[in-house]
Amino acid sequence: MTRVVPMDPQHPDPEVIARAAEILRRGGLVAFPTETVYGLGANGLDPNALARLFEAKGRPATDPVILHIADLDALPLLAREIPPAAWTLARRFWPGPLTMVLPKQPVVPDLATAGLPTVAIRMPAHPVALALIRAAGVPIAAPSANRFGHTSPTTAPHVLEDLEGRIDMILDAGPAPIGVESTVVDLTRPVPTILRPGGLPREDLEETLGPVAVFDRSLTGPAPAPGMLPKHYAPRAEMVVLIGPGDWIRLRLRELATRYLQEGYRVGLLIAEEDRPAVADLPAEIATLGSERDLAGIARRLYPAMRDLDARGLDLILARDFGTQGLGLAIRDRLVRAAGGRVMRAEDSP
Ligand code: TXA
Ligand code: MG
Repeated sequence: MTRVVPMDPQHPDPEVIARAAEILRRGGLVAFPTETVYGLGANGLDPNALARLFEAKGRPATDPVILHIADLDALPLLAREIPPAAWTLARRFWPGPLTMVLPKQPVVPDLATAGLPTVAIRMPAHPVALALIRAAGVPIAAPSANRFGHTSPTTAPHVLEDLEGRIDMILDAGPAPIGVESTVVDLTRPVPTILRPGGLPREDLEETLGPVAVFDRSLTGPAPAPGMLPKHYAPRAEMVVLIGPGDWIRLRLRELATRYLQEGYRVGLLIAEEDRPAVADLPAEIATLGSERDLAGIARRLYPAMRDLDARGLDLILARDFGTQGLGLAIRDRLVRAAGGRVMRAEDSP
């Protein structure tokens, strides 16, 4: 029912792209790689296709989707009152891991925006995504290609795990190179505001725009109580994120893992290479994300590692934070959401 078609990521076969585009134009669903994560594509101007998309994902209609374009000329067809800052960002960072929220044109269906007066638009950088959007000739609505609330897919097998039999086709071009979703910026506010940190670092935006705000409950104020945050990007085991200096993290990882292991829990550790010596002798399941200095590598390995740990039937996952510089902000956001807001901070502990 769901056909998986292998593709060369740099040189997509035009015939395969034409077939996939035809499926999209007829209201079908095609999963495809972007540079961030795999997306589940539907014709963004077709309310029936959008309805199928929400149904396949099990996604509530209250959650708006991103429209993907392959050409700057498509921007004013979908958005109105485009401020100069949006054009500047588009020219500088598209194609790339940036999504802009702008007032919508009437042509954009309410289902795409969950009834909001604004629309989210992105031009992805992956050659397969660009070829597919061009061939389809319509903007492509594409949320991450996972069942709602699950971890986002960075490979075609991850998409298949969640959506087999529910969608028409998957274009398999290997792993997504960035590994976390795009940065979503709202340009309808007086100060440009990051609604979701992602593959384009805040620092890059600020170099172009000056100060931007970050709207994220997990990053401001005291740690929220469990259950306060929407549980999203979530593995099945309980997860706790440790935020603090490296030495504190390693001490705490060892102490907490030891305590829970003694109580008979199956414990997983989502850590950096540098943390391994501190816990290597413990009977915990360890997933290493790479060196803490290589944030691009950490981002790329994050979702696959979360899936991997999740498949091992654990009770508890202890994860470490990587700060808020560059991609660190997006990594923290995904970790804290996966943990449903459960964090332990060095500054709060004795
Ligand atoms: O990297 C990505 O952005 C991937 C790839 C496939 O492009 N897509 C993705 O889509 O992550 P999704 O649906 O999983 O996340 C879209 C995000 C959500 O946080 C949604 O709330 C936000 O964009 N969003 C969409 N439309 C919006 C709007 N009009 N106003 C505010 N936020 C919006
Ligand atoms: Mg998603």
